[in-house]
Amino acid sequence: MGFTPDTTLIQHVDALLDGQRPLPIVAAGDPVLRRPTAPYEGQLGDERLHRLILAMRESLHAAPGVGLAAPQVGIALRLAVIEDPAPVTDEVREARGRVPLPFRVLVNPVYEGVGDTRAAFFEGCLSVPGWQAVVARHARVRLRGQDERGKAFDEEFAGWPARIVQHETDHLDGTLYLDIAETRSLSSTQDVLERWSQPTPEVAAGELGFTLPGARRA
Ligand code: NI
Repeated sequence: MGFTPDTTLIQHVDALLDGQRPLPIVAAGDPVLRRPTAPYEGQLGDERLHRLILAMRESLHAAPGVGLAAPQVGIALRLAVIEDPAPVTDEVREARGRVPLPFRVLVNPVYEGVGDTRAAFFEGCLSVPGWQAVVARHARVRLRGQDERGKAFDEEFAGWPARIVQHETDHLDGTLYLDIAETRSLSSTQDVLERWSQPTPEVAAGELGFTLPGARRA
């Protein structure tokens, strides 16, 4: 990828990379999570970009999480990493389409829904620790962007990987999952584990009083 240096950004990234590991994750309330990000156009240079990606991957594993967007480590660039080993039961895998997603880097990703089907499940965010909520998302999306070497991709994602790429791409537009969640579904991680671990959120919808897409309120 071409190198158009941005010295302010470079100083910021170098300070980040010289600091604490795993990289500290920015929590909701920091404006960096609410600003649109700059397209990545080689501002860091390949070597520094590579180090940032490795550090983001390390933080993703340490959290642990399935996706981490650059603003979550304080960097306002259109860049995210995703990876999901999908350690779930067969029943959950079947219901949520949660299949393993190998590590990959999304540079300048943009998605659009494919078809009208929505899928509603609990999700969480490393920047909103301790909470989860149900979000109805496109069941299938077309994602376009580049990889870390600048090679363009144009792919469809379904199931849980579709949820992950939507969540991370939304971060790059300054959107948190809570902005589009069923707010009545908001549950502590403890409650999700103890009460709402069913493969689908129907029981939670009934008990907490929120509507799932395609469902009619009684
Ligand atoms: Ni998030």
